[in-house]
Amino acid sequence: MVLSAAVEALTGAMASGSSFFNFGVLACMGIGLASTLSLASRALMSIYRNYLRGEIDFKKFGTWAVVTGATDGIGKAYCNELAKRGLKLFMISRTESKLKDCCKEISEKYGVETEYMAVDYSSVSKETWTKLRETLKAYDIALLVNNVGTSYEHYEYLHFVDDKTIDDLIEINVRATTEMTRAVLPGMVERKRGLVVSLGSGVGSVLPASPLLAAYAGTKAYIEQLTKCLDVEYRKQGIRFQDQAPLFVATKMTKIRRAQLTIPSPNTWVAGAIKQIGYEPLTTGYSVHNIMWGILSSIPASSLQNFALKSAGKMRERALQKKQKQAGKKD
Ligand SMILES: NC(=O)c1ccc[n+]([C@@H]2O[C@H](COP(=O)([O-])OP(=O)(O)OC[C@H]3O[C@@H](n4cnc5c(N)ncnc54)[C@H](OP(=O)(O)O)[C@@H]3O)[C@@H](O)[C@H]2O)c1
Repeated sequence: MVLSAAVEALTGAMASGSSFFNFGVLACMGIGLASTLSLASRALMSIYRNYLRGEIDFKKFGTWAVVTGATDGIGKAYCNELAKRGLKLFMISRTESKLKDCCKEISEKYGVETEYMAVDYSSVSKETWTKLRETLKAYDIALLVNNVGTSYEHYEYLHFVDDKTIDDLIEINVRATTEMTRAVLPGMVERKRGLVVSLGSGVGSVLPASPLLAAYAGTKAYIEQLTKCLDVEYRKQGIRFQDQAPLFVATKMTKIRRAQLTIPSPNTWVAGAIKQIGYEPLTTGYSVHNIMWGILSSIPASSLQNFALKSAGKMRERALQKKQKQAGKKD
């Protein structure tokens, strides 16, 4: 329909000597057609990647999976899905009691071996990094999931973001992702096989800009580049890297409790994301987010940025009012 209308308009325009008006109509139809085709191809690709293309056989890559930030949200959902596939789990997170409970729960549920190490990635000493590297040497690691991450407490202008948040963003999102990858690489290179998945974010890889989340988005854009470069660097050595960059997922970090189609639960998101491992170096991990990515990229960046700034500004105001109220209650 759209195609035949375009052809009709084109021939009509040529016959009548193609006025400026006709060119305008043609240009609009061309843009409309291109966007429709691009969206349709994204939707078809999503169906293929999520439902038709086979999942990688993780066991061909080794016997253990290492997951950081393993006791909650996306990390915990990953532990469950990987254990379901028979991988042994090495879980790393901050709170030892939660790690113990998660290990027990997962090994009882799936009958797989589990181990853990409590690490606070916001302040890892050189000695702890060395200990981590030495410990991980002993394991036949198929997959590292660099999941641990932190964000702002709420949307904020950079000059109001406190020092601790900036330090944590760099230590947890940037340093931990880089050092954990460096820790598993020697073994993977020796075995000539391995997979590394890192949690980026749609705010760093899908949106043209994420105002009032600048430093968080920056750390996630770092993860995208790190991943893409390493995927080229090590592919010939049998190691694949992937940045999984979701839009919103209903977890503690986002403070969104109720999941919906566009904001899936961690379990729903991971069920899709795990099937993408070993393929493209960048994915949103979830078919609905892929379609949203398609729609977002067909909107002019300037309109999207203005909209993003306005809505982030409103959410910032709401968060500041809530904070003020809470402070008032304490006084
Ligand atoms: N949720 C989203 O919408 C979304 C969107 C895009 C990207 N992501 C990315 O996905 C990843 C996981 O996010 P999530 O929403 O699942 O987070 P979450 O529900 O808040 O879970 C965070 C996990 O990380 C651990 N953790 C936090 N700080 C730590 C630290 N300093 N040292 C060690 N472990 C620490 C927590 O352990 P404790 O329980 O011990 O605190 C918990 O296991 C992050 O990298 C995030 O940036 C999330």
